[in-house]
Amino acid sequence: MKAKHFLNLTLILILVSTLAMVGCEGDQGPAGADGADGADGADGSDGTISEFTYVGDKGEACSHCHASTVQQVAMTGHGHAYESLDADSLENPYCVQCHTTGWDRPVSYGSDDWMTAPNADVNGFDDYFGVEGDEAAERRMALEGVQCESCHGPMGPDFNDHSPGLNFATMGTHDPENIVADDIVSDCYPCHSTQFEGPSGDFTGGYATSGHGSVSGGSVEDFNMEHYAHIESCAGCHTSEGFIAASDMAFADFDFGDTVNFIGCVTCHDPHMGDGGAGNPAQLRELGPVALSYTFPYEPDDAEAPTMTGFGTGQLCANCHKGRRDNANVASQIANGYAHFGPHHSAQADLFIGYGSYEIDGATYDRTHVHQSAENACVDCHMVRETELHGTTQDFAFHNFRPEIGTNCSGCHGDSFAEDDVETFQGTIEGLMDDLAVRFNYADYHDMEENWDSTAETVTVWEREAAYALFFIIGDGSLGVHNPDYATDLLNAAIAHYDANSEAF
Ligand code: HEC
Ligand code: HEC
Ligand code: HEC
Ligand code: HEC
Ligand code: HEC
Ligand code: HEC
Ligand code: HEC
Ligand code: HEC
Ligand code: HEC
Repeated sequence: MKAKHFLNLTLILILVSTLAMVGCEGDQGPAGADGADGADGADGSDGTISEFTYVGDKGEACSHCHASTVQQVAMTGHGHAYESLDADSLENPYCVQCHTTGWDRPVSYGSDDWMTAPNADVNGFDDYFGVEGDEAAERRMALEGVQCESCHGPMGPDFNDHSPGLNFATMGTHDPENIVADDIVSDCYPCHSTQFEGPSGDFTGGYATSGHGSVSGGSVEDFNMEHYAHIESCAGCHTSEGFIAASDMAFADFDFGDTVNFIGCVTCHDPHMGDGGAGNPAQLRELGPVALSYTFPYEPDDAEAPTMTGFGTGQLCANCHKGRRDNANVASQIANGYAHFGPHHSAQADLFIGYGSYEIDGATYDRTHVHQSAENACVDCHMVRETELHGTTQDFAFHNFRPEIGTNCSGCHGDSFAEDDVETFQGTIEGLMDDLAVRFNYADYHDMEENWDSTAETVTVWEREAAYALFFIIGDGSLGVHNPDYATDLLNAAIAHYDANSEAF
């Protein structure tokens, strides 16, 4: 899947050194790995790196061409992962394996089996661990922390090959039985099993069982067949590559090849620090304001047009979790009907900020709701929970993305708040949804969702106006929880609109 579009580094270096010779200027910097540095080039390697499979040195050899990336990575948690270990754990191979570069022999807790493990020997940290002598100490120092090569693969001994690995998948395979993937590139899993399996290690709290990670039972091919996710307009939210291409300039014209991946670690996390720099400790990719697609009653360019903004890490989710129909499309749906009537299945940001459904002329809607006081919006209810970890209680981001009634809500609702309370509220909303469906002569709203044909000639414009709110609430999926007030108002206004028109009819 890797696109071989980068220039051959040897060629670049030859080109640079040729220019240097022509210019005949002060070009006597240290020799590069396989050639001289250019006139205005940074120092090349001192020539010793080529004997090692891992170049190391925190990307020093890369900074000539990738200077800002090297600086950014140094500021992330990965950049100082080795410094996080205390003196005792520095002697503990179990701890060191994930806090250094090129450790290729997994060590289980409390074990010293690693010495004989039959893995490839590639001059990583493990090959110098416990070895005496200055050279070994120097090599260990070169491989401290989670460096470029932890994710891009070893780039020596022939550095000039410059064949970095790039992987947009999460761990190469989604089969929990077979996770320790064949290719080590961009494998977050070996170090981040906690996020994949959940803090209890039984997968329930982790990415492995989330909707993001288990679409269509795990086959990208099946998913494409079913949902056409390869087509341009879907890929931006349904695939890792599509989202990265849309959000990272460096990948705007990248040829990702034919295989696409689900939403995985690198879809949401940009290991080169992400959006907003060092103020973004979780290295999240997109945290800026997100405009809704359907901006009624405003035009998209209006200053007042509804935007989800100021919700911290929850901003990330809104990039994909918004209804994706625009003003023209909704107007056309109301006028003519549509095979997929309503917003896209993902109108969560819309409901949350209290916009984004078709609204009945003259009706009033309460857009603000106390849930908007959740600082990180989606993330506060769907991910972060106080968790007992390593003997202390701390905030931990659950990567199954399911809201947990209880822990996620008790901070505001108190400890007695339970599943029942939520279901009672959702039951009220479903009652209103049924009331509307019954008016359309359906048994309940599920019946209407399945069987109503908005394009049928007998269906009137005012019926479509009334029906939209129902499909909006269905598309959101929280049965009103995301914004109880706006949801209630939408359904009540729709029912009133139906009644007023059917009486007049
Ligand atoms: C002499 C310059 C130079 C040096 C030194 C260099 N690179 Fe690159 N690198 C490039 C160029 C040029 C590209 C292609 C950029 C493009 O196509 O947009 C590239 C692309 C990449 C890519 C993207 C791969 C792809 O498929 O597009 C990665 C990852 C990368 N380099 C990692 C590294 C790492 C890690 C190091 C240090 C160990 C390094 N590079 C050192 C010049 C360099
Ligand atoms: C070689 C092991 C290793 C690999 C591979 C690795 N990480 Fe990490 N990661 C760590 C360690 C160790 C830390 C904690 C750093 C520290 O000490 O603060 C960390 C921290 C993080 C953090 C920040 C959380 C924090 O506490 O600072 C994020 C986000 C993250 N990693 C995401 C990823 C993603 C996404 C990938 C795959 C593209 C990945 N990591 C690959 C070891 C690794
Ligand atoms: C399987 C890989 C792995 C092993 C083994 C491991 N760590 Fe980590 N460590 C990580 C990752 C990944 C993080 C990032 C945060 C997270 O996952 O919650 C981390 C975070 C940390 C942090 C917090 C850094 C911060 O600034 O927040 C400390 C301290 C730490 N580890 C120490 C240790 C010690 C001590 C051991 C050995 C007992 C150890 N680690 C073993 C992967 C590992
Ligand atoms: C934790 C894993 C991880 C680490 C550490 C890491 N990268 Fe990357 N890198 C990625 C992933 C994933 C991508 C592709 C998606 C993206 O840009 O986030 C990538 C893309 C790139 C690209 C191509 C896109 C661009 O931004 O130009 C370059 C170049 C690159 N990395 C260089 C480096 C260098 C140099 C270092 C070390 C200083 C480094 N990376 C450290 C995971 C990592
Ligand atoms: C703006 C981002 C976005 C775009 C663009 C997008 N989707 Fe979605 N889609 C989502 C989100 C987010 C969900 C999950 C919503 C949920 O679970 O409530 C979803 C859910 C779905 C589902 C239901 C999935 C299931 O397993 O229940 C289907 C089917 C679907 N989308 C098809 C498509 C198709 C086909 C396209 C292109 C024509 C497309 N989507 C474009 C964001 C988007
Ligand atoms: C749908 C987006 C998304 C995906 C996919 C995702 N993450 Fe995260 N991750 C987040 C968000 C948002 C946070 C920040 C939560 C917060 O505000 O504390 C986070 C936090 C983290 C942290 C910080 C430490 C913690 O509290 O857990 C690590 C490490 C991390 N993610 C690793 C991963 C890994 C590894 C994967 C792949 C298995 C992954 N993430 C997949 C969105 C995502
Ligand atoms: C790159 C786009 C994208 C981002 C970013 C994203 N999601 Fe999703 N999400 C999707 C798609 C697509 C689906 C539908 C997957 C499917 O077909 O089941 C989905 C599904 C879900 C589901 C339903 C899961 C299930 O079990 O059915 C939840 C809940 C969810 N996302 C929450 C979040 C949260 C919270 C965030 C932010 C931390 C987030 N998402 C970020 C695209 C995204
Ligand atoms: C006040 C807490 C809260 C906030 C804030 C919140 N959610 Fe939810 N979300 C819930 C609850 C509760 C449900 C309903 C779960 C159920 O009925 O099983 C839900 C349902 C969902 C679903 C449907 C899941 C499914 O299985 O179909 C998605 C997707 C979702 N939320 C995404 C988001 C996004 C994206 C945001 C931010 C814009 C967000 N949520 C904000 C609590 C919250
Ligand atoms: C930031 C604080 C906060 C968080 C977090 C929060 N809520 Fe709320 N929620 C409120 C407040 C305040 C009210 C309004 C009080 C009321 O109407 O009883 C409310 C109202 C509600 C209502 C409407 C009750 C009614 O009968 O009108 C539901 C349902 C609800 N919350 C569910 C949840 C769920 C489920 C979660 C966790 C997944 C959650 N909330 C998390 C603050 C919060």
